[in-house]
Amino acid sequence: MGLLGVALLFSTCIFPALSVDRSNFKTCDQSSFCKRQRKLEPGYSQYRALLGSAKLTADKLEIQLIDDKNQLSLLLEVFGLDGNMTRIKINEINPLKPRYEVPDVLVGTPPPANLQVTGQDENTLELSLGGAEHKLLVTGSPFRLDILSGRDLVLSVNSRGLLHFEHLRERKDTDSEKTVPPESDDSVPGEEDEAAAKEEESKKVEEDEEQPGMWDETFKTHTDTKPNGPSSLGLDFSLPGFEHVYGIPEHADNLRLRTTESTDPYRLYNLDVFQYELYNTMALYGSVPLLLAHNVHRTLGIFWLNAAETWVDISSNTAGKTLLGKMFQYIHGGGETPQTDVHWMSESGIIDVFLLLGPKPNDIFKQYASLTGTQSLPPYFSLGYHQCRWNYNDEEDVRNVDAGFDEHDLPYDVIWLDIEHADGKRYFTWDPHKFPTPKDMLGKLKDKRRKMVAIVDPHIKIDSDYRIHNEIRSRGFYVKNKNGGDYEGWCWPGSAAYPDFTDPEMRAWWSSMFSYDQYEGSVDNLFVWNDMNEPSVFNGPEVTMHKDAVHWGGWEHRDVHNLYGLYVQKATAEGLIQRSGGKERPFVLTRAFFAGSQRYGAVWTGDNAAEWDHLKISVPMCLSLGLVAISFCGADVGGFFKNPEPELLVRWYQAGAYQPFFRAHAHLDTPRREPWLHGDVNLKLIHEVLQQRYALLPFWYTEFYRALREGEPVMRPLWVEFPTDVSTFAMDDQYMIGSALLVHPVTEANARGVQIYLPGVGEVFYDVRSYQRYNAPQSFYLPVTSSSIPVYHRGGTIIPRKNRPRRSSDCMHDDPFTLYVALNLQGEARGELFIDDGHSFNYEQNEFVYREFNYSRGQLESSSLDPRGKFDTPSWLERVIIIGASRPTSVTLSLPGGSVTPLEFEYDSRTSVITVRKPGVNIASDFTISLR
Ligand code: NOJ
Repeated sequence: MGLLGVALLFSTCIFPALSVDRSNFKTCDQSSFCKRQRKLEPGYSQYRALLGSAKLTADKLEIQLIDDKNQLSLLLEVFGLDGNMTRIKINEINPLKPRYEVPDVLVGTPPPANLQVTGQDENTLELSLGGAEHKLLVTGSPFRLDILSGRDLVLSVNSRGLLHFEHLRERKDTDSEKTVPPESDDSVPGEEDEAAAKEEESKKVEEDEEQPGMWDETFKTHTDTKPNGPSSLGLDFSLPGFEHVYGIPEHADNLRLRTTESTDPYRLYNLDVFQYELYNTMALYGSVPLLLAHNVHRTLGIFWLNAAETWVDISSNTAGKTLLGKMFQYIHGGGETPQTDVHWMSESGIIDVFLLLGPKPNDIFKQYASLTGTQSLPPYFSLGYHQCRWNYNDEEDVRNVDAGFDEHDLPYDVIWLDIEHADGKRYFTWDPHKFPTPKDMLGKLKDKRRKMVAIVDPHIKIDSDYRIHNEIRSRGFYVKNKNGGDYEGWCWPGSAAYPDFTDPEMRAWWSSMFSYDQYEGSVDNLFVWNDMNEPSVFNGPEVTMHKDAVHWGGWEHRDVHNLYGLYVQKATAEGLIQRSGGKERPFVLTRAFFAGSQRYGAVWTGDNAAEWDHLKISVPMCLSLGLVAISFCGADVGGFFKNPEPELLVRWYQAGAYQPFFRAHAHLDTPRREPWLHGDVNLKLIHEVLQQRYALLPFWYTEFYRALREGEPVMRPLWVEFPTDVSTFAMDDQYMIGSALLVHPVTEANARGVQIYLPGVGEVFYDVRSYQRYNAPQSFYLPVTSSSIPVYHRGGTIIPRKNRPRRSSDCMHDDPFTLYVALNLQGEARGELFIDDGHSFNYEQNEFVYREFNYSRGQLESSSLDPRGKFDTPSWLERVIIIGASRPTSVTLSLPGGSVTPLEFEYDSRTSVITVRKPGVNIASDFTISLR
């Protein structure tokens, strides 16, 4: 099949169907380990902790666990960690082979905290966990762990007895059906019914051990040979008092996780799911095994550090009960405490889990950031608007699209090239006919202070005339198949092989390919997009790599699968840094990701469709990613498949402008949809959206700086800001950017209005357009027109904007600022502004300005938030808008030297807004503006 043929097979032919072919992807029942693990019934654990074997060092407790059914032992390690965290590891004591422990995700060894025994009886060990506040109870028989905060039970481990660890074993018989289970030796003293229960358990496990699928497993036409046999593991966590759990992206589902009693568990297995469906628990392109739980008192996190295929079951004792039912139960007593139970199951590796004890949402973000790092600071331009499609066809096309933006006065920063730009999908090359002079093309964009992104996928065309392929092959850098040859699969270029990104040497080599002399035609305004890095293998099982393929160090693909995409983006980002001699920040977009991917760039939600529901779900999908530290998230604006009607396209621009990564993208087969192709009215609407986005870039950038420093999500669920307002806990049709802007995008066709909820007792919000003031909490119906983007400025916050329209964000770098000061009920407000050169790592050498603005008692004061920072900026303060204020009689500007100058101002009594004109001070200087 020709190249276009491949593209068409995966595009045109299947295009009209527009729903996932579920038969291509496994259900839990079809994934034999999931089936085995899920079949275990909650009840009496088969494990006992031998408390007599406990060894305690300053920060670590070791205890042997014994499987009463077969006398096999495990080692439990509990680590006290600084900052209200603990880590639990469970592994075989002497496995037949080492089991995989995930490398390169943690940013360092988590700092330890003291563990101390504070009490003991014959079946319990009590420890203090990093300070007096938390206690850990280890129960010997049946084995369980409980964490208490004061007298409250916060979380229990294995309280439902689902710990199940498949020991590596010799294959006894080639016929898996006949594998003999190890002898059971049930010798626990205890009551008869306990013994009976154990007997029952042991029978269940014996049955499990006779399951087909332990030594090989066939799905459709693919057989997984499983040379190591069964190796799965599972463990349960109970969260008393919690009814709301979140996280574990990526799924096309609501923000609040559903209970999975009547569906498949949530699946974490990076997959290229063609035409994914919404509102289900199926796996998608990326996986982050961090689950958060929240109630009015506290927030918790469970970080399950395992890169193998993983499923997560969620159950709750209140699911299905109506609010009225719950209230009835509460009023009449006798009701159970609400509780959520979470059961994690992974195919291989070890149990390595971090319990993040909060207690506040921001504590969880800090704790998780201390383990896996924070969102890297994006280059400023990458927060602007990105224009992409599959494909911009040639240099002339690029020139025309670029000119179209100027002609229609639209700002944009980046034009993108998809796979057709390369010579026969040989990445790192250019099609010699369509893109004969890439440097000239990039130079012209550079003249306009714009950039380009080109795609570099991790499947490499097998072609002996292709230098990249030859080098990878001769260096032995490809992933191997189970027989030791190079693993081959089918992808965009036809027959392709897959570089082994788990190999550090391979990654170093890959990084070196981005240097200007290696990547011909590249210059410093060219950046990179890594797609298909799940990895996607068109003819592989579930459209990905065979699990028995072999990676560096002899590890099976099974062990490393969910890490592959992270490594691709890491190696690419490091390449871009290196090409600049370590000076410049990279921009790399990835489709596949894992915990820690936030350190390497941006992600997007893959191949969505031009449908209203896809627009709507982009919000919870990015919110879920933000909760697990991946703040730089966006969805294809307009929808990838199908053609959006103009109304949907405009609404998508309006929503996308208020999401962190803002890129329009479209499938090869769709008609062109650049902003000026939909009539003047729609062009005007899109124009307005782009102006709003660009005006807010300083605010976005400052929020990203906070994400870098504090680990806070940029786009965040309402409950993060209003943690005691229960009515926000399941809300995902509106959200906050930082703590200052509340956004409720219009995501319905023919919308005449939307129902807005403004949270927080004693809070006020202002409509950003009309300055209309609303006291919170309140819910109201807001009538909307086609130009409405419901966005509210929260009283008590200050937002910096740059209001002069320009061609690109770079052109705005030195422009003056306007500060928008929205007063709360106390007449106060606070905000921040971060400025640096926008592209280099010099901020790490303190070349930045980090300002704080405080408004109180009629005075706006500007001071430095980080006195280490020094950066010369010509930007000055052009205007101050004070919202929710009363009329002053005079406004003056005072500078540190003692000078006081009167300032011109206007007061609009209808909106209660003061506009202070031209303070004229440098934005990086200390000043006070006083109102009398
Ligand atoms: C799949 C990606 O998700 C999509 O965005 C891209 O256009 C195609 N691959 C072609 O590269």
